[in-house]
Amino acid sequence: MKHLLSIEDLTQDEIEGLLERAESFAEVSRRDIKKVPALRGRTVVTLFYEASTRTSSSFELAAKRLSADVVSVKASGSSVDKGESLKDTVETLSAYDPAAIVIRHPHAGAAQMLTQWVDAAVVNAGDGMRQHPSQALLDLLALRQRIGSVEGKKIWIVGDVLHSRVARSNIQAFMMMGAEVTVAGPPTLIPRRIEETGCQVRHSLDEIEEADVVYSLRMQRERMKESFVPSIREYARLFQINSRRLNPRQLVMHPGPVNRGVEIGADVIDSDRSLISDQVSSGLAMRMAILFELLAHGDHRETAESPLPIGEPA
Ligand code: NCD
Repeated sequence: MKHLLSIEDLTQDEIEGLLERAESFAEVSRRDIKKVPALRGRTVVTLFYEASTRTSSSFELAAKRLSADVVSVKASGSSVDKGESLKDTVETLSAYDPAAIVIRHPHAGAAQMLTQWVDAAVVNAGDGMRQHPSQALLDLLALRQRIGSVEGKKIWIVGDVLHSRVARSNIQAFMMMGAEVTVAGPPTLIPRRIEETGCQVRHSLDEIEEADVVYSLRMQRERMKESFVPSIREYARLFQINSRRLNPRQLVMHPGPVNRGVEIGADVIDSDRSLISDQVSSGLAMRMAILFELLAHGDHRETAESPLPIGEPA
């Protein structure tokens, strides 16, 4: 694995390997001393051209827990505000000789483009509406820790699928790992021909009872250039995930940030059936696993210099 750009680039075995690695890092996170020396002396740059709380903080903390030096650049407040192009910004940051660059950008394909300009491993932390692979991987980890394998499980992804890179990555990842995926939402928010990916499509929640896991998506109003639903109230009436719609055995996920009372009811967010906070902690472990696999795994330089297994404190 040289870069992490899209779920499609991974094999089932590679996903399995990342899940196992992330589980060992989750164990490290439960210790008093949560740091390991795996990336000592390496530099990780995070470059965020779009808003982010969870993804940016967890990549940053993941790199620090692996003992890397971290440079975090947010587009607002940086020279990007002064009109510097992506290429110039990346060339400037390349002077630090980063081992990895984690990028979130509003344009689909931005991460891919970066791979042509830099020697560093590139991690796509969200490119427009296209892919968000680390989210799909952390969601698999959260599910694995709660229910084991997703093989044969029915997962419904509900809401604004059209504008969601999370949905695109998660449909692929869930199906690769053997789940049956259904997407549900108003026709205006479901991409045309999405069933060609192998998922089912529903335009109501009438059959949601069959789902083992309900994955709610945020209404991404910042990406909507026109009106996709008659009103938010009407949308919530038909598609909100709340405890009245679910049975006690069903689990609920959401990538965050949530619009409480729009796509998801407050009653489920804070309930036992919610995996939302598990998703955040899985995010840290999975992003440690991703950086480790890209930068340290198979790096004989590293193992020769440092005989410490990953589990030893730094
Ligand atoms: C998602 C994103 O940015 O695509 N959030 C995240 O990474 N936690 C989903 C969203 O913004 O709705």
